[in-house]
Order: sequence, then structure tokens, then C-alpha cells
Amino acid sequence: MPDTFPGQRLPRWENAPHVLQTQQFDRVFIDSLFGFTDQLIHEYRNRDDLWVRHIGKRRVLLSLMYEATTRTRATFLCAAMNLGIRTIDIADPQRTSSEVKGESFADSIRIYAGGNDHTYRIADVIVVRHREPERVFEAAQVSRVPIINAGNGPDQHPTQSLVDLYAIRRELGRLDGLHVGIVGDLRNGRTCRSLAYLLGKVGKQVNFTFISHPDLRMREDVCDYLRRHNVPFAERADYGEVLPTLDVLYVVRLQTERDPEQRADFARELVPLRVTPEVVRQLKPPARILHPLPVDSSVPEVSEIHPDLCAAARDKNYKEAQDPRLAWFRQADLGVPVRMALLVAVLQLW
Ligand code: NCD
Repeated sequence: MPDTFPGQRLPRWENAPHVLQTQQFDRVFIDSLFGFTDQLIHEYRNRDDLWVRHIGKRRVLLSLMYEATTRTRATFLCAAMNLGIRTIDIADPQRTSSEVKGESFADSIRIYAGGNDHTYRIADVIVVRHREPERVFEAAQVSRVPIINAGNGPDQHPTQSLVDLYAIRRELGRLDGLHVGIVGDLRNGRTCRSLAYLLGKVGKQVNFTFISHPDLRMREDVCDYLRRHNVPFAERADYGEVLPTLDVLYVVRLQTERDPEQRADFARELVPLRVTPEVVRQLKPPARILHPLPVDSSVPEVSEIHPDLCAAARDKNYKEAQDPRLAWFRQADLGVPVRMALLVAVLQLW
């Protein structure tokens, strides 16, 4: 094991260290988590017989995803396996678990987290994604093991924000003095809400511009939080002159699953806000476009990122874009190491 380990400075939570909302993190935690992530990436790349591959042995991570997921589930499972943690993956529990027979969500959590000692316990950490925002808090109340919020309806997605911030730090070299534009469905996009809470809290001299259709504005809880913390933000309905002033443009797809009543042509009304080659041209060369993914390319004429840019961001030979501003695949790559570092912290493996 290395002599020095930034994880030693990770806070020791009292009781179960749930990860529920990004407001719970502070700059000290973020800096040490990211320092540890740097170290993991470096050691993982350079050494094979690594202490870290066994650090989680005898632990079990249970993934409980009530909503569709590609990256969050796969990267949590992979992060766990990289640390020697065993995994149980419960997909579609709304169809496959005893909740079908009327069991309460709380009782399900009591079973997964149950047992007074590890002989009887099924999971040591539970990663939950649920359509109903309050469920992750309910889980945290009844669970004796850490609950990690992997997306609670339109509310928050804290671990995605850790990935987003780590990507910003890596791409731009800093978390301070940034002008961050967030465009798209800010009302229902949980990733941008978590990002605004987190960067608004831990970044110094950060300011935001929220760019959205008037029906999809950032909700008042986030705006109120930023006001109370003296974080400047502006709201607008078009790009206007703002693009050349941005350091980051964070893109959120229209969250159609949150509002089934949504008018069918709504996506077309959002076309003026889509990211096109012309939008990219107006950004500063060191600026970065980030997207938590998925890009909704089901109707290519209205996708929030123009298909030419999607194709260019990482071509079929896995060659990176000529233009480093198209950064969203590099951002997604960071999901595994950041979640590895988080699991070390949450399970207090060090
Ligand atoms: C996001 C989510 O699930 O909120 N995806 C992700 O986890 N990276 C973004 C989205 O679905 O738009």
C-alpha cells in the first residue's frame, strides 16, 4: 500500500454515510476525493498487482435501479468490481421484486440492508435509482448501510455531479472562477440541479447562466439556494451574446419521461437551443461542452446535440474529436474512477 493516501483525509461519517444530495459535500471533501481519484487513475494505469483491487473484498454492493440506466449502473458495478467488492444487480425491481406482491419499498430495503452482523447482511452499500424523489430518503431512514442516490426522479443525481466536477477540473484545470452555462430541460434535469447545488457551494467566483425555454426554467429551490449563498446567476431564453463568455456549456436533454402529457412538438420548439457547429464556433477555444448523457438522438433533426457533433466527439475508431471542446465522452469515461473513490470513502475501506 502507498505510504500517503489522500483518502486518509476523507471525512469519517458518523453512522451510515449516505450520499443523497450534493449540498452535503464541502470543498475539503471534494478536493480529497478528487486527489484520491487522481491517484487511483495513475496507479491503475501503471500497476497490475494493485492493493486497491482487493481493498473491498468481503463487501457487497447492491444495485437497485427502478429506472432506465446505462452509465450509472454499469460504472457503479465496474467500480465495485475493480475494488474487489462483489455485486448484486437487481434490475427492474418494480417488475421483478416482491413489491409486485405488495411488499413496501421500506421493507425491501430492510431486507437488503438487514442483519446485525455481516453474517446475515446482504449488502454493505445500496445504490438506488427511483422515479419517486422521496424514496431514497426513505431508504436512508430505514437502512443500516449506506444508501447512494443514483437519481431520484427529477430531484438530484449527486454522483453524476461528482463526475461532472472531476471532468471540469481535469479539462479546465480548476473549479474556481468559472462561468457555467446550463442549457436544456433545467426544470426536470436532475443532473443540472445537482451540479448547480454542488458547484454553487464548493466553487469560488463561479457564476451561472441558465438557458431554457420559459416552461423549463430552473426550479426555485436551486435559485433560492444560489441567492442565499451569493452565487450570481442569470436566466435567459436564448444564447444571445453569452456563448463567448462561457467556460463550460452543460447540456441537458428534454426529460420526456417526466412529463408524459408534454406536447408532442415540444422538442421542435427547443431547436433554437440545440448545440450545433455554429454554437461551438462561438465558444472560446478552452471552453468545454459537457453532457451527462444520454443524448436523445431518437429524432436526429431535434436532438439536443447536432448529429454531426455527436459523430465527431468520438469517431468510430475511438479517435477523440479534433476539437477538444466536444468533451462529453471523456467526461463519461471518468464515471468508473470517481465512483471507485467514492465507494472507498463511503465504505471507509481505508
Ligand atoms: C442522466 C440521468 O439519469 O439523470 N443520466 C446519467 O445518469 N448519466 C441524464 C439524463 O437522463 O438525461
